[in-house]
Amino acid sequence: MMEKKQIDWANIGFGYMKTDYRYVSNYKNGAWGEGGLTTDDTITMSECAGVLQYAQTVFEGLKAYTTEDGHIVMFRPDLNAARMVDSAKRLEMPPFPEERFLEAVTEVVKANAAYVPPYGSGASLYIRPYMFGTNPVIGVKPADEYQFRTFVTPVGPYFKGGAKPITIKVSDFDRAAPHGTGHIKAGLNYAMSLHAIVTAHEEGFAENMYLDAATRTKVEETGGANFIFVTKDNKVVTPKSDSILPSITRRSILHVAKEYLGLEVEEREVFFDEVKDFAECGLCGTAAVISPVGKIVDHGTEICLPSGMEEMGRVTKRLYETLTGIQMGRIEAPEGWIKVVE
Ligand code: PLP
Ligand code: COI
Repeated sequence: MMEKKQIDWANIGFGYMKTDYRYVSNYKNGAWGEGGLTTDDTITMSECAGVLQYAQTVFEGLKAYTTEDGHIVMFRPDLNAARMVDSAKRLEMPPFPEERFLEAVTEVVKANAAYVPPYGSGASLYIRPYMFGTNPVIGVKPADEYQFRTFVTPVGPYFKGGAKPITIKVSDFDRAAPHGTGHIKAGLNYAMSLHAIVTAHEEGFAENMYLDAATRTKVEETGGANFIFVTKDNKVVTPKSDSILPSITRRSILHVAKEYLGLEVEEREVFFDEVKDFAECGLCGTAAVISPVGKIVDHGTEICLPSGMEEMGRVTKRLYETLTGIQMGRIEAPEGWIKVVE
C-alpha cells in the first residue's frame, strides 16, 4: 500500500487542500476531448468566458472512503454522474457522458490515493467534478466551448463540532423559485445563498432553513443539505418538492430506514407548522452526512427538538450509524452502492 501524506486527519475541517492530480477534458467543435490527469491546478481562459459573465457552471460532490478492510471506495457515483447530466441540460451545457464521469472520478481518486484519509480517522476524500463555459460570451447565450474538471480534497466534518446538534434559522431569503433551478446543482444557487448564510452566521446560526418561495409555508432545504425529520412515532419524513436538490444521501437514507431499520418513511410536502411536532431533525448530504438539528428559530420563536442540544436523536443516530457503516464497509451495502477504486 502507498504511503499516506502526513496530515492531521482527525482535525481537518471542510476546506480545500491542493492535492497532486486533477482530471481535465475540454469540449470544442461539438465534442468532448479525450481528457486526462494533470498536475496543473490553475485555469487560464478568456476574460469573457461564459462562466465568468453569466455563471454557466454546474458541479457535483461525492466522497471516497477507506473501508475497514483497506479498500478505497466511492459511494453511489453513478447517481452523481446522472445528476450532473440533468444539471448540464438545464443550463444548456453539453452533458459529460456518465461512463466518462465514472472513469474520471475513479482516475483522480486513484492518482491521489495518498490523500484518502485512513479508516476510522473521521475524515474522507471529497470529490468535486464540475464544468463551465470557457469561450467568450457577451450576448446572453450558452457558450460553445466547455471544460470538465475533477479535483479531490481531504475533508472533515462540514459543521464544527461534528455530531453536536446545530441551531438554524428560518431564512428571510428564498433559495429557489418555482420552475427555477433549485433541483439542479448549479453554482448560481450557491452564489445567491451567500448573503443569506453570511447573515445567518453573523446572527449565530449554523445554517438556513429555506421555505418554498411561492407560499412560505412549506419546508424546502438548507443551503447545502436536505432535511429529514422523525415523528414521535418513529416515522422518517422528508420534504418532497420540485425545487430542492434530489439528494443522493437522502434517497439512500430512505432506503436504509425502510429496508435496514424497518421504519416507515414518507416523502411528502412538509408544512412549517408541523415542524414543532417532530421528535428529531437532521440535515443530510454528502458534506453534511447526517448533521443533527437541535433548534430552529423562526423570527424569535424557538422550536426546540425534543432530542435536545447534546446528542443526535435516537432514530437519527441509527440512520447515521447504518449509512456510514455501509459507506465504510462495516455493513453490507445494497447492490451497486459501493464502487471499489482499489
Ligand atoms: N441540497 C443542496 C442544496 C446541496 O448542495 C447538497 C449537496 O450536494 C445536498 C442537498 C445533498 O445532496 P447529496 O446527498 O447528493 O450530496
Ligand atoms: C455536498 O454536500 O457535496 C455539497 O455540495 C454541499 C456544499 C454546501 C458543500
